[in-house]
Amino acid sequence: MCGIVGYIGTQQAAPLILEGLSRLEHRGYDSAGVAVLGGSKEATVRVAKQAGRVRDLSNELPKRFTGKVGIGHTRWATHGPANDVNAHPHTDASGDVAVVHNGIIDNAATLRAQLTADGVDLLSDTDTEVLAHLIARSDAETLEARVAQALTSIEGTYGLAVVHAAFPDRIVVARNGSPLLIGVGEKEMLVASDLAALIRHTTMVAHLEDGEIATLTAGGFTTYRADLSSTHRTATEVDVDPASYDAGDHESFMHKEMSEQPEAAERVLRGRLDERFGTAHLGGLPMGARETRAIKRVKILGCGSSYYVGQMGASLIEELARIPADAEAASEFRYRDPVIEPDTLYVAVSQSGETIDTLLAVQEINRKGGRCVGLVNVVGSAIARECDGGIYLHAGPEVAVASTKALTNMFLGFALLALQLGRVRDLSISDGKRLIAGLRALPDQITEILEREEEIAEVAKVLAEAESLFFIGRVRGFPVAREGAQKFKEISYRHAEAYQTSELKHGPLALISPEVPTVAIVPNDELTDRNVGALHEIAARGGPLVVITHADVDLGDVVCRRIDLPRSERELDPILLTIPLQLLAYRAAQHLGHDIDKPRNLAKSVTVE
Ligand code: F6R
Repeated sequence: MCGIVGYIGTQQAAPLILEGLSRLEHRGYDSAGVAVLGGSKEATVRVAKQAGRVRDLSNELPKRFTGKVGIGHTRWATHGPANDVNAHPHTDASGDVAVVHNGIIDNAATLRAQLTADGVDLLSDTDTEVLAHLIARSDAETLEARVAQALTSIEGTYGLAVVHAAFPDRIVVARNGSPLLIGVGEKEMLVASDLAALIRHTTMVAHLEDGEIATLTAGGFTTYRADLSSTHRTATEVDVDPASYDAGDHESFMHKEMSEQPEAAERVLRGRLDERFGTAHLGGLPMGARETRAIKRVKILGCGSSYYVGQMGASLIEELARIPADAEAASEFRYRDPVIEPDTLYVAVSQSGETIDTLLAVQEINRKGGRCVGLVNVVGSAIARECDGGIYLHAGPEVAVASTKALTNMFLGFALLALQLGRVRDLSISDGKRLIAGLRALPDQITEILEREEEIAEVAKVLAEAESLFFIGRVRGFPVAREGAQKFKEISYRHAEAYQTSELKHGPLALISPEVPTVAIVPNDELTDRNVGALHEIAARGGPLVVITHADVDLGDVVCRRIDLPRSERELDPILLTIPLQLLAYRAAQHLGHDIDKPRNLAKSVTVE
C-alpha cells in the first residue's frame, strides 16, 4: 500500500524515480509525487506532485526538473482525500525538507494540534506532513540525528525517505512496520518499498529491519539503530528474474498471472510429494511427528481472498487429517481477545506477507505463547519472519491487485499440509497416494480450464450486464463461491453476494428474479442432488443460472449455462472450481472496460489497519 522510490547517484533522479513508481503503482494509485535536490551553487528541494496516475505526473513534470538526488511516492489515501495537496512528498514551511511516507502515524492528530499551537501552518490533511515539520524543527547536527529525533515523537508505522537541502549528498530512510529495501548500484544507490522498483537497476539488495535508520550516499549506505549506533547491514544478491515483473505479451498482469498458474502449481509441489509413503514433506514446518500427533485443532488466519482459501484449507485439513479446523478473518481475530491454546496449530496465510491485520494476528498468537506457522508467498516478508516456520508458496511475484496464482498455491500449500498431518495420523497410504496423483494432475487440468477462456467470456458478458449477482455453494463449494464473488465485485464493481446454497430459502431467495443471476458451484460429490434441488428452486423463480460443474453431473431440465470442468479428487475440487470464476470476473471486467490491474479504491498489500 503506497510506494516509495529514492535515488542518489550519477543519473537524473526524476525519470528513474518515475519509472520505479510506475512499477509500484499497483500498491496505490490515487496520486503521485517526486522531490529532487538540485541547484548549481546551493541545493534546493523541488517538488512535483498531483492527484492521478504516475503517467499523468510524468506528462506534467516541470521543465528542468533536474537533480541527481530524489525521492518519490505513489499514494493510497488514508488521511484526507486524493488531491494534489495531500499527495507526497510533504515539505516543511521553508521547503528545505521533503518526506515520503508509507504507513500510518497513530498520534498524528496530537502532533498536528501541537504544531498548530506552535504556529505551524499545516497545508495538507495527511499524517505525513508532521514528519517534515518535526525534522525541520530539530537542531541536531546531522540529518540522521534530526530524523531519529523526530521519530521519537512518532507512534505508528512507517517506511520513510527524507531529503534536506542542507544535506544534499544523502537520503535518510527509516523503517518501522512498512518495508524498505536498499539497492546497491555502481556509484548509485536506490531505496524502494518493493523489489519491483529496484530489480531493473540492481540485484544487490539490503532489507531494512523495523527500528532501523539508513543513510544513502552515491557511494554506499550505512544502517543504524534508533540511537544511531551502527547495525552493519550489508547487501546480498537476490535471485529473481526481472521479466517476472513485466506483463509481457499479456494485456494485464492479472491475465499473465492467471496463465502462470499451471507452472506456479508445479513449483509449490516440486520436491514435496512422497509417492512411496503417500505423504508430503514440508521441510519448513517446525514440528516432528510426535508434536504433529498432539495437535488438537487448526486455526487458519488470513484476510480477503486469503481468508477464503483458508476456509478451503480448513475443509481439507478436517477431511484428510480429521483434526477440527476453521479459518477466521485475521482482521477480526485479535479484537476479540482470542483464547490461544497450546495444542492448536495456528496458520497465517498471506501472499504479500505484509498484510498488517494478519501480521498483528500472528503477533497476538506469539505474545500469548501459541505456535503459528505461515503459508506465505513473499520470502523474508514480515509475516514469514514472525511465524515459526511454514510453507513458502513459490508463486512468483504477483502484481495484479486481484490475487490469482498465489491463491491457487495457497490451496496447494494447504493440501500438502493436510496430507502431511493426515498421514501422521489416520489417513491411509492408499488415500495418500490417491491425493498425490490428484495433485500431480492439477497443473494440466488448470491449463485445460484456462484454454476455455473464450467460451467463459461469453458467459461473463451476460453476467456483466447484471447489477447484482449471487454466488452459491455448499460445504467445500462455499468458500469457492465466496472467492468467486470477491473476484467479481473487486474488478467488475458489480454487487456479488456469496451464500450457502442451503441458506437461500431462509431469506435471500426473496431477491431472486430474472434480473439477478446466480453462479452456482455444483461439483459431482455427496451434495450434488441437494445442489440440483436448489437450482430448480432458483429456476422456478425466473433466476438466470450459471452452473460450474462436472460433465457427468445430471442437472435434469434446469435451464442454465453450464461450465463443465475436468474431474479431480473430491477434496481437491475447490481449486479447479475457482479457476473459471477468475476468468468470469476477468472477462466481465474487461467487457465493462475497467482497469483490471488497478481496481478503484483498492491497492495491493494492505499495510494499514
Ligand atoms: C483479493 C485480494 C485480497 C487479498 C487480501 C490479503 O483478490 O487480493 O483480498 O487476498 O488483501 O492479502 P495477502 O494475501 O497479501 O495477505
